[in-house]
Amino acid sequence: MDAIVALAKRRGFIFQSSEIYGGFNGFFDYGPVGAELKKNIRDCWWADMVRRREDTVGIETSIIMHPKVWEASGHVAGFTDPLVDCKVSKQRFRADQLFFAVVVVNDQPIGYVSALESVDTAATLQGMAESLKRRKAIQGVLAPIVAKDFTEATAEEIPLIPSPATGEPGSLTAPRGFNMMFQTNVGAMTDGSSVAYLRPETAQGMFVDFKNVVDTGRVKLPFGIAQIGKSFRNEITPRNFIFRSREFEQMEMEYFISEDADWATAHREWIEWCKHWLLSIGLPAALLSEYDHPKAKLAFYSKGTTDIMFQYPFGVQELWGIAARGNYDLTQHATASGKSTEYFDEASKKKFVPHVIEPAVGVDRIFLAVLCAGYAEEEIKDEKGNVEKRTVLRLSPRIAPVKVAVLPLLKNKEALVGRARDLYKKLQRRYAVFYDEAGAIGRRYRRQDEIGTPWCVTIDFETIEKDGTFTLRERDSMQQRRITETELFALLEDAVTEHPRQKRRR
Ligand code: GAP
Repeated sequence: MDAIVALAKRRGFIFQSSEIYGGFNGFFDYGPVGAELKKNIRDCWWADMVRRREDTVGIETSIIMHPKVWEASGHVAGFTDPLVDCKVSKQRFRADQLFFAVVVVNDQPIGYVSALESVDTAATLQGMAESLKRRKAIQGVLAPIVAKDFTEATAEEIPLIPSPATGEPGSLTAPRGFNMMFQTNVGAMTDGSSVAYLRPETAQGMFVDFKNVVDTGRVKLPFGIAQIGKSFRNEITPRNFIFRSREFEQMEMEYFISEDADWATAHREWIEWCKHWLLSIGLPAALLSEYDHPKAKLAFYSKGTTDIMFQYPFGVQELWGIAARGNYDLTQHATASGKSTEYFDEASKKKFVPHVIEPAVGVDRIFLAVLCAGYAEEEIKDEKGNVEKRTVLRLSPRIAPVKVAVLPLLKNKEALVGRARDLYKKLQRRYAVFYDEAGAIGRRYRRQDEIGTPWCVTIDFETIEKDGTFTLRERDSMQQRRITETELFALLEDAVTEHPRQKRRR
């Protein structure tokens, strides 16, 4: 992770927000190449999810909505994470990320250990248990620890569990619900009557506008409403770089189906679609897995939720959640607003509140996943046979911030520079391209490798003196070949606009 974070800063992908003021925890800025990469992720999703599907439309709703939206959705009452305070250090932890274990020697408890969730929390706790046994100089057999999260701690156990901040027991409070919505005030008054919220998810926009879309969008069940936009959550412990932040971007889709449709099949189809889409932007299948939420932990209205997980360097974590939410949200808004959210089905002549399948993913999490999957350090030999290190970001051409770099072999040869600038200007009309004439050609290739540029084109003496072809250098293989301008455009068109084969529903 450290190497990836360093590259992200060095090459202008991601900066800490407000860095000159010491940063602001949980907020990030995207630099010049980061903004391009993020936009490409969004554009690919929008193209595949909205434009290339005949059964989905896109909308853009406001970030601050009527506060009643969040009462009806259940967020005001229940959008909470379990919070634990350490009264001594004044630090706060998420109870479900704070793990503890009772330490047992010769079948007798000798104390407790605790640690914050990490790649291998159980191994950390086991190591702590061994040190506790040594510190207390107790002889005997240490039982393997059983890690539990702090939400499972009993009232008797809480005073005995050490705080991860101080290592001493007695300072942790019992978990309490902490609402993660950011509050603001709308208008000149700052009393309770003007309280509003920054949206914690984009999804409610689709439910609240459901009727408007049905009335204007020429849509028929089953159909989806999609949206991309910023969401805000006052996370207790933002962490792992951009994985969990307080301001982030979501790409959500509500796929409405008939009340008697086979929801399990629709759910499975959407899980497959999402996995396929992740492969289409270059994530390797080997780093993806599925996690089915246990039935007992689902909300009462939920029929099932499956997360597509990604193997980040800090552990396997949720990337994309696909939830079958029944008709809970539309029903809640109908009750709270007094306005019908029913759909009239022409074929059956029946009126009902549609059910929904919701694939919801974070742009920043995909961004981090493609950085982690693509990052590699290699040892290569230069022309003289010397071994050197190459850092390369293997990004799919679909999302790479720069598709091709145009490099004149020498910057002091007018004919080379002129031809290179011509090609650069021509490519620029269609693609994000980069022109670079500074430094040795090998160094220029390395700079492009680090930002994931799939191809470099060098304009050399053969170009201007012979057949007009350029040297095309491929990022991954580092192989070079000659290519004509027509072939270059065809190569880019093919690689950049390639998209997953999709099942048309209607
Ligand atoms: N409407 C459903 C919903 O918002 P969620 O699981 O809370 O569900 C959906 O969020 C996706 O949004 C997650 O799978 C994740 O990719 C992204 N996400 C959620 N919280 C995030 C955070 N604090 N920082 C970055 N991404 C986040």
